Amino acid sequence: MTAALAIERLEKRFAAGGKPAVDAVSFDVPAGEIVVLLGPSGCGKTTTLRCVAGLEHPTGGRISIGGRVVSEPGRGILVSPRERDIGMVFRPHMTVRQNVAYPLKHRRTTGGGGNIKAKVDETLELVGLGEYAERPVTSLSGGQMQRVALARSLVYRPQLLLLDEPLSNLDAKLRIRLRDELRRILKMTGMTGLYVTHDQAEAVVLGDRIGVMRDGKLLQMAPPGEIYNRPADSFVANFTGASNVLLGKVLARSGDRATIDLGAVGRIEAWTPQPLNAGDKARVALRAENVRLGERGPANVFSGKVLERRYQGMQTVYDVDLGGQRLEALELGTAARHEQNREVAITLPPDTCWAYRDEGAAVD
Ligand SMILES: Nc1ncnc2c1ncn2[C@@H]1O[C@H](COP(=O)(O)OP(=O)(O)OP(=O)(O)O)[C@@H](O)[C@H]1O
Ligand SMILES: [Mg+2]
Repeated sequence: MTAALAIERLEKRFAAGGKPAVDAVSFDVPAGEIVVLLGPSGCGKTTTLRCVAGLEHPTGGRISIGGRVVSEPGRGILVSPRERDIGMVFRPHMTVRQNVAYPLKHRRTTGGGGNIKAKVDETLELVGLGEYAERPVTSLSGGQMQRVALARSLVYRPQLLLLDEPLSNLDAKLRIRLRDELRRILKMTGMTGLYVTHDQAEAVVLGDRIGVMRDGKLLQMAPPGEIYNRPADSFVANFTGASNVLLGKVLARSGDRATIDLGAVGRIEAWTPQPLNAGDKARVALRAENVRLGERGPANVFSGKVLERRYQGMQTVYDVDLGGQRLEALELGTAARHEQNREVAITLPPDTCWAYRDEGAAVD
């Protein structure tokens, strides 16, 4: 009974003529898939989710659940939240009373009361709270409470599950455990899910696909591996941790390969998702983990100097000077291999260097 969700050019303006909080966002969630919306605070994640739930009235576009249009302001269609058959898990800021009252207020009476106990037991088992069935909710820990909220949403087997940062407000350890459990539970139940977070790690573990949002716009929607290895946009690259940026000018481009002149550094070969032209200002983004210190690879080999090293036990972070530009390198392992103030060979594998048009200030 899980259903696909389709969102076409969704728009939500809170004030007429104002900047849209959600701006022409389009994506699908096929039945049984989990899509995670990832982005910084205020980018429009919750508003998108609330539009799907019917709690917010969109000002444009179309939302369909299971092939049925539930919202299309252009044709005056707006199906009420209770008729959308959606389960919701919101941030755990509600009181216990509100938590428990919510489904009672909003549930459609579906009959078949005889197996309610069985359903509840089965769902509590699923979230690992079988033994806690008779305990008062007030005696539960934050993580257990969170699982109660999840069970409450799963017990009705809604056709679509919406989750808005359900793991925030939990301590780091519990958060990681629940994140992994949540993935297992959602996959086991075959639920279609739309999950909102600003936590990259959560997005990667939970999402079959991740949609990165900024300023109300959906910048890229792709499987986690693609978001991490082929970011379509320099914001996506930066937001998912490619913190190094080298500035230069495009020398040539052929398809998705570009040669960038980095001035004193030399030339660098890079991958690009954009139709860059020779002469364009470019920024090359690169993850610290992909900088190979002390290596001479087949391409993009440079020489730099270790300015600083920060030993962190399981890994070491280096600040390297590369022809006057600063580069951060990260090496896993318990040994710090490179000395401070020494010259070091650096390989930047072309596949891990991503070139984007530089819309910012002049480079030279
Ligand atoms: N009821 C409202 N009235 C006016 N503006 C609103 C309202 N709700 C949200 N906004 C604005 O819409 C934009 C998107 O907000 P939204 O809550 O969707 O962001 P978010 O991505 O969920 O952020 P966060 O990660 O902080 O939860 C923000 O600029 C916010 O101030
Ligand atoms: Mg939010």
